[in-house]
Amino acid sequence: MWWTLLSVIAGVLILVLRFSTRRRRRNEPPLDEGWIPWLGHAIEFGKDAAKFLARMKEKHGDIFTVRVAGLRVTVLLDPHSFDSVLNDRDSFDFTRIRSQVIQKVFSLQPTNIEPTLERKWMEQHFQGCSLPKLSSSMNTHLQTLLLHCHNGSAPSEWKQEGLFDLCYSLLFRAGYLTFFERTDNAAVAYQEFRKFDNLLTKLARGSLRREERRTVSHSQERLWELLSPCGLRGGSESSTWQQSYCDFLQQEGINADMQKKALLLQLWTTQCNAGPAAFWLLGFLLTHPEAMEAVKSEIRGLSTRRDTSFQQPQNNPLEAHSTPVFDSILSETLRLTAAVMIRREVVQDKILDMANGKRYHLRRGDRVCLFPFLSPQMDPQIHQEPQTFKYDRFLNDDMTVKDEFYKDGKKLKYCSMPWGAGKNSCVGKEFAISTIKQFVFLALTHLDLEPCDPEAKLPPVNPSRYGFGMLQPDGDLQVRYRLKRT
Ligand code: HEM
Repeated sequence: MWWTLLSVIAGVLILVLRFSTRRRRRNEPPLDEGWIPWLGHAIEFGKDAAKFLARMKEKHGDIFTVRVAGLRVTVLLDPHSFDSVLNDRDSFDFTRIRSQVIQKVFSLQPTNIEPTLERKWMEQHFQGCSLPKLSSSMNTHLQTLLLHCHNGSAPSEWKQEGLFDLCYSLLFRAGYLTFFERTDNAAVAYQEFRKFDNLLTKLARGSLRREERRTVSHSQERLWELLSPCGLRGGSESSTWQQSYCDFLQQEGINADMQKKALLLQLWTTQCNAGPAAFWLLGFLLTHPEAMEAVKSEIRGLSTRRDTSFQQPQNNPLEAHSTPVFDSILSETLRLTAAVMIRREVVQDKILDMANGKRYHLRRGDRVCLFPFLSPQMDPQIHQEPQTFKYDRFLNDDMTVKDEFYKDGKKLKYCSMPWGAGKNSCVGKEFAISTIKQFVFLALTHLDLEPCDPEAKLPPVNPSRYGFGMLQPDGDLQVRYRLKRT
């Protein structure tokens, strides 16, 4: 009896192994299946994708295929060859992967909305004529929140807090008030959003524990409630970003239930990156005195100019002037801490031409993944001491912005890719840059801000967040702050 059972189990296992493993064909990228049937490298990938992919790059070079949870993912790490994927929309599709993730994380059913139509709507509402209005509203909210961040204690008293919490909460609330214009519940929305965001990577990978699943569901419900279109005020205020988005969805035939779920997706898309980016930028400044001095000196230079942009709160004085030091520090921050993964599905068999002349056959149904964090961003052939923060890395000797970098003697088209690329790159790039710079400017000019421990270092990154945009810290940097005496 036992022998029969054991032989059946062994037979099934052999069949699973036989049919779930694949052999590399001629002209295909090196194949690394891992030793766990079906799962392949999923566990290592989910734990620390950067470490895992760096190990694979060491072993196989700039292109290889790995098995991850039943899928074959071809990873391309040569920035000179990125365009072969980004420019071929017939062979590489993004829409299906996007809707799968959205369904899993935001419970949003695939809709019939034409992706290009939605993208166009986004561009209209985040860029061009809409941008100055959004930036001005964001600046006003940021100033108000920053000047009142003492929560009851006297503004001249030192207050202690984690820098990550401070940055994320201020930028989230200002963004929420700008886009969603609900003045009464920004703080509650932030609390729920953080709970949701903390578990988002596990939710996307399907690795939540039961208790965590309950927390996520509860936060989702609460956020859907807070964002519900029914709660919107109409009349004179119906021209808010949120109202326009709901009108757009309504016109496309999306029902109220899906509208509130789409609003949570937009809340996450618009709020999940700016806070963490501001944290890293301020954190690098607070732990690198020479960078802090350089940026403060640039700001001092601006404020001595006789113009009115400093007097009007809705203005962002940084926009009226060139700020190469500030820009270099932002680029360097994003180089070190933005870790986007650009994913595509291979929808027809494809011969991929690499920049070095090699050609590889990719199979239909596989995935392709670009991970610019490893190269160009952290590539030692491109950036000397890539792990080190150097505030002037993106500055030329004549103090102009440096945007020429080389690999193998060839100029790079993409020297850093924090905003993604191609069809699904960030629609809010200009808004995000203006917001982060304005926030840091306000923090430096309105607050006395310092690490509680002068010797403190920045916390390490949370390795499970590689591939989900801006990285987040594992821990926090404790800071103390008070309003500057004028
Ligand atoms: C440091 C800040 C930010 C970074 C690094 C960043 C980065 C990105 C990246 C990499 C993507 C592509 C995501 C993907 O592959 O699926 C993206 C998409 C997007 N971002 Fe940003 N983002 C930032 C801030 C913002 C802000 C403040 C807004 C809104 C005002 C915004 C609006 C969007 C939108 C709407 C999309 C979706 C585009 C589409 O689906 O076609 N982003 N962002």
